[in-house]
Parts: sequence; C-alpha cells; structure tokens
Amino acid sequence: MSLVLGIESTCDETAASVVQDGTCVLSNVVASQVKLHQVYKGVVPEIASRAHIENILPVLHSALAEAGITLKQIHSIAVAQRPGLIGSLLIGVTAAKTLAWALQKPLIGVDHVQAHLYSVRLFAHGTLPRQECPLPAIGLVCSGGHTALYHVHDWTDVVQIGQTIDDAVGEAYDKVAAILDLPYPGGPVIDQLAEQGNSQAIHFPRSQLERGSLNFSFSGLKTSVLYHVRGHPGREKSPDRLTQQEVNDVCASFQQACIDVLISKIRRALEQYPSRSVIIGGGVSANRGLRNQVHSLSVPVYFPDFVYCTDNAAMIAGLGQQLMDRGFISDLGMDAMTSGSIPTMTH
Ligand code: KG4
Ligand code: ZN
Repeated sequence: MSLVLGIESTCDETAASVVQDGTCVLSNVVASQVKLHQVYKGVVPEIASRAHIENILPVLHSALAEAGITLKQIHSIAVAQRPGLIGSLLIGVTAAKTLAWALQKPLIGVDHVQAHLYSVRLFAHGTLPRQECPLPAIGLVCSGGHTALYHVHDWTDVVQIGQTIDDAVGEAYDKVAAILDLPYPGGPVIDQLAEQGNSQAIHFPRSQLERGSLNFSFSGLKTSVLYHVRGHPGREKSPDRLTQQEVNDVCASFQQACIDVLISKIRRALEQYPSRSVIIGGGVSANRGLRNQVHSLSVPVYFPDFVYCTDNAAMIAGLGQQLMDRGFISDLGMDAMTSGSIPTMTH
C-alpha cells in the first residue's frame, strides 16, 4: 500500500489530500477562498497568497486527520508546482519541500492541468473504483484558467493539441455572470438558471477559428452577451430591465454556445488523433448541460466525480503516485513555475 500526500495551491483553493495507491482518496480537504474574492468577481492574486498562508497548516492537519494517518506513514509528497499564480504556488511548494526535507521522503512536482485529466480515475475510500478509461484518449481541460485539448497516451505522457487563444471557458462563465449581476463563480449559477431557460432564444456566435483548428476563442461570445444585455456602445441599457425569464434565456443560450463549441472541437480532435475515449476535467466539467450532451460522440466519455472537477489535491496526489512509479522524482531545488510543462504538438 502506498500513501501519497498531495498539496494544491495554484490559484484560490488551498487543498490537501491523502490518496492510496494512486486512485483511492482517503481524504480530500479544500479550503475555498470564494467568499474573499466574490466581491471582486474574480481572483485577486495578493489576497489569494495571503489566504494560502493562513490555510495551509490547518488544511494539512485536517487531511491527515480525516485519513486517520500520521505524517510518518506517508510515502511521498506531491505538490502542484505549475502552472498558476506565483504567490499562490509558492505557499504549497514551500510547504511540500519543507515536509519532504524534514521527513526525508520523496518530493514530486505535478502539473496541475495534467492532474485535472487524471481526476477521472479518483474514487472516495469506501466507494466503488471508477471504470478504467481506455487510452489513448482525447483530453479536454476546461476550467477558469484553462481550456485546452490533449492527446493522452498515458497518464504521464500527454501532448497539447489545441488551446484557447483568449479567454478560458470558465472565465467566460464568470464574466457573463458579472454582466448579469449573478454571483461569482458564475459556472454553477449559470448552469442552474440555464435549466429553466430556452437555449434557442438568442443566437450567440460559436467561434470555430480556421478549418480543422483545435484552438478555442470565447472572447467574442462574451462580448456578444455583453452587448445583448447592456446594449451596444452609445446605446447602453440596464441589465435590471431583464426579467428572470430573459436572464434564464441568456444563460441557456450562452451555455449552449459554449457546449456546441466544446463538443465540435472534441469531434475534430477525434478525427485527427486515434483515440478510444474522451476525458473531460476541470471546473466546467461539472456542467450538467455539457454532461447531458456528450453522448453523440463516437467513443465513451469520462468525467470526474463532481468533487474532483474543481481544484483539489487528490488529483495531485494521484498523478504524483503515477509519476513516482515511473521514476519522476523532483529535488528540493524545484521551483514553482507560472507556466505549464505539457509539450505542444505543432502541425
Ligand atoms: O478547475 P477550477 O476549480 O479552477 C481552475 O483551475 O481554473 O475551475 C473553476 C471554474 C470557474 O470558472 C467556474 O465558474 C467553473 O469552473 N465552473 C463551472 C461549473 N462549476 C464550476 N462552469 C460551468 N458549469 C458548472 N457547473
Ligand atoms: Zn484547475
């Protein structure tokens, strides 16, 4: 039995988790900072790093207590080392290095985006293991900070094949929520209101970019929602004038545009890269509309359990185990990195 302690602090969640043998989650503790950032309708980096400092030790203690183990029983420490906000990353990376040095245990630096793909394998202790998803797969990570497609050969062998050229899809959700005066983060509330709206009510643009392109663009869609709700420049109107039904319709129509683009890009990727399944991870993979509409794809689609969609440390510990098994051990000189490390496929 191998126990990995995972630490996550790339953005605005401070998280720690103990995972057994790479997939069985013994504890999954996440200290959310949503309340601190809500008033700004987005993450403020300085506030995030300060909150990580306050949260990191209590979160680590809770993760060990919930798993019912002591630090001595841990075999290695995995930490999200890239990509992310530098002030946030440094708190988790420093905590991990300190523990690895003090306990003389292996340290494993993990790519946060790659870990979002790995999250489909996680299951809580006492529940049934997840069905194995056949590889190679097309991976989509869609979150507040990332929207990109990957060809997944193995859990530790992933190549990026497309990415957003402007906003991430979760970022578009958060901005559209701000336009509609809905709370931050926008994804869950828009998802909920969309269920009561008409997705055909407004035709928002679906940017496909050039023929065959696996890249995404969501900024035009966001601007289109802005003009629809607030009026075009010089002819502004107040969003207060929208009825609840009109707000629901904007949510449903916006969400449908996002889903159409995500699904059509996955379809394109399946045409270009031999794949036996599709894996969708990241905060937006919690979206119920998206989950209900992927069945038209030609291969089975795998989503993480809801708790592992948004940022968490279980995915870091799980992928950490896989990296350790393949000999990818980091040294104590490891630096936090603001950008990712997944190689990009050039056409
Ligand atoms: O993965 P995550 O916690 O953080 C990043 O790595 O960015 O993703 C957070 C994002 C936010 O933009 C949030 O609005 C979005 O995920 N989100 C959703 C849903 N739940 C969270 N978007 C659409 N539908 C949801 N149900
Ligand atoms: Zn994330």
